[in-house]
Amino acid sequence: MDENNNTGLDLFEGNPAMQEAIMSHANELLDTLLDFKELMFYYSSAIWEIRTKLEILDTEFELKYQRNPISSIQTRLKSRISIIEKMKRKGWELTTESIETHLSDIAGIRVICYYVDDIYSIAEALIRQNDIELIERKDYIANPKPNGYRSLHLIVSVPVYFAESTRRIKAEIQIRTIAMDFWASLEHQIKYKKQISDPQQISDQLKKCADIITYTDLLMQSIRQQTDDDQAEMSELDKIYDKLKKFDVPIGD
Ligand code: GTP
Ligand code: MG
Repeated sequence: MDENNNTGLDLFEGNPAMQEAIMSHANELLDTLLDFKELMFYYSSAIWEIRTKLEILDTEFELKYQRNPISSIQTRLKSRISIIEKMKRKGWELTTESIETHLSDIAGIRVICYYVDDIYSIAEALIRQNDIELIERKDYIANPKPNGYRSLHLIVSVPVYFAESTRRIKAEIQIRTIAMDFWASLEHQIKYKKQISDPQQISDQLKKCADIITYTDLLMQSIRQQTDDDQAEMSELDKIYDKLKKFDVPIGD
């Protein structure tokens, strides 16, 4: 037997029925793993599409208003282990069809904006696009979670065009300000600390930070509003300079 090609089947030499059964199982297992790999490719393609849409909106806004609404975009594919763990926890069958039906957060896109009103402008501009279907919208900014968490969550589906098929793929988009993201990131880290002597005190303090951040976000927005209004009073010469600045906006060329 060739040492480099030892499949373990030689153990069952003389038992062709057993060999066939093992081959058939291995084949099925590989098919399942490949289906899963293909599914993950669909989700990462949806992430590319949505990211591109967001970048286009950001550049268009910059060209029109000389500032970017989006500070950064983070994306992630849910890990295999988290997918399996969630499907098991909820008692759902572990097939690709069932994963596609039940999970809407395999493709995750987090959009970090500068100002609160930018969040709604970006969300509306995205949802307005004909190919984007809005499945669910949760406004944790208008209705923060009791712990103080704020963000706008959208579950959408987007068509992804492959060589021989088009598939609608779901994605979860979280849109928040830099301040909201700062709070959520630290709260997430603290939540998973193993040893906390006074959990109530920690949640009270986190809630207090969330309130301060809410106030800061609103104040920053009103400062921008004021300076925007001042821009309207610009001299004719400054208006011309302002238009000239638009030529410096990189548009991907
Ligand atoms: P799952 O939590 O994924 O089962 O979905 P859900 O229906 O409860 O959705 P929800 O909109 O509450 O939360 C989805 C995601 O938002 C989470 O996976 C987190 O990324 C984020 N999130 C929601 N609540 C909190 C929170 O209290 N703190 C932090 N840091 N993130 C949160
Ligand atoms: Mg949740």
